[in-house]
Amino acid sequence: MELSKKLWSIGGGKGGIGKSVFTLGLGISLSRMGKKIILVDADLGGANLHTLMGVRFPPCTLEDFFLNRVDRLEDVVIDTQVEGIGLICGADDILGSANPTYAQKVRILKQIENLPADLVLLDLGAGTSYNILDFFNYSQGRICIMTNQATSLQNVYGFIKSALYRRITREFAKDHDVLGLVLQTEATPSESKIESVKELLLQLQEGGEDRLSRFSQLLKTFELLLVVNMVKEDSDLQAARIIEKVCGSFLSFVPQVLGHISYDPGIEKAVNQMVPFPLNQENSPAALDLKEIARIVLANSYSQADPGKEVGKKATSFLGALQSAASGMKKT
Ligand SMILES: Nc1ncnc2c1ncn2[C@@H]1O[C@H](COP(=O)(O)OP(=O)(O)OP(=O)(O)O)[C@@H](O)[C@H]1O
Ligand SMILES: [Mg+2]
Repeated sequence: MELSKKLWSIGGGKGGIGKSVFTLGLGISLSRMGKKIILVDADLGGANLHTLMGVRFPPCTLEDFFLNRVDRLEDVVIDTQVEGIGLICGADDILGSANPTYAQKVRILKQIENLPADLVLLDLGAGTSYNILDFFNYSQGRICIMTNQATSLQNVYGFIKSALYRRITREFAKDHDVLGLVLQTEATPSESKIESVKELLLQLQEGGEDRLSRFSQLLKTFELLLVVNMVKEDSDLQAARIIEKVCGSFLSFVPQVLGHISYDPGIEKAVNQMVPFPLNQENSPAALDLKEIARIVLANSYSQADPGKEVGKKATSFLGALQSAASGMKKT
């Protein structure tokens, strides 16, 4: 089967919710399934994936690539103690201070995508800066980590919303009407504030079929997977249901739940001892959850099925209803 998703991003907006632990654990679980994996620490403000991997002093980092000390990105991939996993260690916020254009970012992302591995996993930092959102949106596989804490729910929704609106502004970068309307979604509450993608679409219907079908395509292909981390009891999984519901109502798109990771004290122990999790703890609760998620990620990476099938169905029926409402309005 052909590889359809090589590059996977792990985001979620909030700090300390387990993005890096998950990236590492997923990478190790995938490597156990015979895949060659490269992990990229794209947390350019607080790089620490190497620490979780047990590397105290990185021999080289992304900075060597950004500052042209090496020619190719693959020159900064280091071998790790886990067979089948290479690591690119993070650097300070060079991208942030360099303020790269979108085209420059795409050039870097293309090199990341072409790294010599079966799958490449990008560990993103916290927040919703354009750099983070562009790295996230460019990836074919997109995972949001969240917990059941109210602050995580708030941040993960904010992250998903920002990622979707960023994608809309990139897709319609030359369409000033759309850009103006997207700005209205960011306005402080007022009469002119646009509260949802549905409202945005209603405003856009005058723009014609082409715009609506581009919008529909965008919503169809905006696949995003949720992972609830630090789960202590079944009711913690409700957090994902809330995000599904809020995204459906306000963003006209429903993320899918990829799985959950149990709260596991073995993780904290591994972090403190600088032993990559789940090494030596392969049967612990979180290790088994990671294995299950890795199995799905692998199937998804090589699947030929339409990734936006479920989401697409919803978006199409919504747009269908909108279009018939619009044509009904024209007739009267
Ligand atoms: N499933 C879990 N069970 C128990 N503890 C966990 C679990 N996942 C993460 N942790 C704990 O949470 C801490 C933070 O995790 P991690 O560094 O991966 O967060 P992060 O989202 O990458 O944060 P940042 O945005 O600051 O990089 C870990 O050091 C670990 O102790
Ligand atoms: Mg991290």
